[in-house]
Amino acid sequence: METKKFIQQKIEEIKKIVGKEKAISALSGGVDSSTCTVLASRALGKRLKIIFIDDGLMRENEPEEVRKIFEDMGIKVSIVKAQKEFFAALKGKVDPEEKRTAFRDAFYRVFGKEVLKSKSRFLVQGTIAADIIESRGGVKTQHNILEQIGIDPRKKFGFKTVEPIKELFKHQAREVARELRLPERICGRMPFPGPGLATRIVGEVTPQRVSLVRIATKIVEEEVERLKPFQAFAVLLNDKGTGIERGRRKFGEIIIVRSVESRDAMTAVPTRIPWEILAKISKRLTEEIPSVTRVAYEITPKPPATIEYV
Ligand code: XMP
Repeated sequence: METKKFIQQKIEEIKKIVGKEKAISALSGGVDSSTCTVLASRALGKRLKIIFIDDGLMRENEPEEVRKIFEDMGIKVSIVKAQKEFFAALKGKVDPEEKRTAFRDAFYRVFGKEVLKSKSRFLVQGTIAADIIESRGGVKTQHNILEQIGIDPRKKFGFKTVEPIKELFKHQAREVARELRLPERICGRMPFPGPGLATRIVGEVTPQRVSLVRIATKIVEEEVERLKPFQAFAVLLNDKGTGIERGRRKFGEIIIVRSVESRDAMTAVPTRIPWEILAKISKRLTEEIPSVTRVAYEITPKPPATIEYV
């Protein structure tokens, strides 16, 4: 891929699609949406409004950190608080695909409101090739796929989607981000799924369960940082495991630690994490989250498993 040429072509393409109108960019702070936001910002200037939806499913301090990174680049980001809407949509749902569809619809409903409020008809989003292939292939309903599975976003949500990097894979998106001079904290960022921590909770997604998996994720990320895995995180299971507290039995939460190496997220192998790091993760998870009694390390590649649990 000729990165410079690609960037120029995409800027022209966005200008042509949006014309003299306004657009909204759906920023999550990941490499894909950040790249699209910068491309669209170069194409549209002040006619682009950048929105970060705080759905309550992000990692610790993520909304503020992302806003700060973009503000340091001179790009203004508005944070829209929508935790209530997302938790209401996910309430009572345990089936993985039902949770994914509920998240996707809440995502576009919230953005639909913002697009209409700003008198725009376009939503710029960071869809990449793997999202399309896996949604179409029936692996998972990705949070950002509509047209490719036969849903017309104009009819259902009132806007058209603009997807400047939909033909790229993750490593190519990183190349474009680096060429655009995005900070390394964004270019090298671990992939984080659109539906956020909800993909790492087996069973119902509640604010309490999200808080638990958020702390666990932070611990895992901190401990594996120096290994620079493709992606690493914690998963909360929907069952209890017996533990011991002051000599008596206690039924506690089970956390799975997942870390994988991959290039494009279409296939992946587990990271060979040194035993001392795994032991430290187990110690920290059980000490810092008293309701956790068990920690396991996941050793399944993709396929047959997927990277996320939901
Ligand atoms: P799976 O779990 O399908 O994940 O093996 C492959 C890669 O995609 C990320 N992922 C998503 N990204 N919206 C996204 O933007 C989604 O709905 C979604 N689901 C999974 C996942 O984190 C991994 O990097």
